[in-house]
Amino acid sequence: MKTCGSLGQSGMVIPPLVFGTMARRQSASREREALIRNAVERGLVALDTAPLYDFGDCEQLIGRALVGLPRERYRLFTKVGLRWDAGARGRVLFSFDDAQGRRVHVRRDSRPESIRAEVESSLSRLRVDYLDLVQVHHPDLDTPFAESFGELTRLRAEGKLLHIGASNFTVAQLQDAQAALGDIALCSLQPEYSLLRREAEQKLLPYCRSHNIGVLAYSPLAGGPLGGQVPQIADRAAMLRLQHALRDVLHPIARAHGVSPAAVALAWVAAQPGVTAAIAGASNHRQIDAQLAMLELQLAPDELEHLTRGFATVGWPSSWSLQASRLRRALKRVRQVIGRGLRAARLRGS
Ligand SMILES: NC(=O)c1ccc[n+]([C@@H]2O[C@H](COP(=O)([O-])OP(=O)(O)OC[C@H]3O[C@@H](n4cnc5c(N)ncnc54)[C@H](OP(=O)(O)O)[C@@H]3O)[C@@H](O)[C@H]2O)c1
Repeated sequence: MKTCGSLGQSGMVIPPLVFGTMARRQSASREREALIRNAVERGLVALDTAPLYDFGDCEQLIGRALVGLPRERYRLFTKVGLRWDAGARGRVLFSFDDAQGRRVHVRRDSRPESIRAEVESSLSRLRVDYLDLVQVHHPDLDTPFAESFGELTRLRAEGKLLHIGASNFTVAQLQDAQAALGDIALCSLQPEYSLLRREAEQKLLPYCRSHNIGVLAYSPLAGGPLGGQVPQIADRAAMLRLQHALRDVLHPIARAHGVSPAAVALAWVAAQPGVTAAIAGASNHRQIDAQLAMLELQLAPDELEHLTRGFATVGWPSSWSLQASRLRRALKRVRQVIGRGLRAARLRGS
């Protein structure tokens, strides 16, 4: 069983499970507020979010959900550096068509003025006067790190944030970030990491371990499949390999401990050397209950090894690409419905 620990050198003690607030399903705001409040009250006291999640709405929802709770009861981890709302500056990370069919570009932008504006907006949306951790969401290679991390140190000196982290950085970029921060320790890194996505094991986890940088592993359930729902993907061979690994490796261990497959997959991530916590998302209270079992779960060394080997060769797309294709399918359905409505209205009018 993994216990609470310091995130890197920060001394900020967090549980090995962080609640990820990026919504993968549409649900009523009231329901999501209740989910977040319940998560914090059940002990998931560290929340990961970003301005990009639901384009500011997610942070607003968290702000509403936590009204009345003493500020020291919870930790807020948010991000800067991805803009959809600041014009045509910065390289495009990804694009999509919104429900009205307009092309939206999400751009990397870590210019100091953009970072300051984002931190101010996050404080106001989250209804707090400081952020526990601000992470650069994706590196912006057009802005010198001295400028972007320099601005974060100024915001820290002003008391608007406590700790500075990074997300989706390479080892070389982590080194540059630390050099730009000078005496202030880079607190943490967010890499994608799960039984199905293991790239971080090669360089990132060893580097973070040796430099005492905390690791918050995102998409630890690979966006859902390790919780049990295998999505339809184009690569049918990969789907079969995953089904076998779930049936022959993950599920028997979960049954032996009387917990859900999700709890085992999360406990495996949290047990890996160098990982401080897994950041898991949930769509309902039942999923949170199942995840919380990981806090009590003690996997034996041979079970951890069996999981490590059993999933090593499944080969699975990143949660980003799955999310993008899910988003594209959802938007296509919305456009089809709108198109059908318009055609019906035209027919009625003619
Ligand atoms: N820094 C970055 O670039 C980055 C990128 C991605 C994510 N993140 C962070 O990481 C968090 C988690 O990422 P994620 O949502 O991609 O991945 P995840 O935690 O691997 O997957 C979450 C999904 O798994 C399913 N699930 C959760 N608990 C379950 C249970 N007990 N039983 C069965 N299924 C269960 C749910 O799917 P359904 O909704 O389909 O039921 C849920 O939405 C995000 O909220 C965000 O904070 C960061």
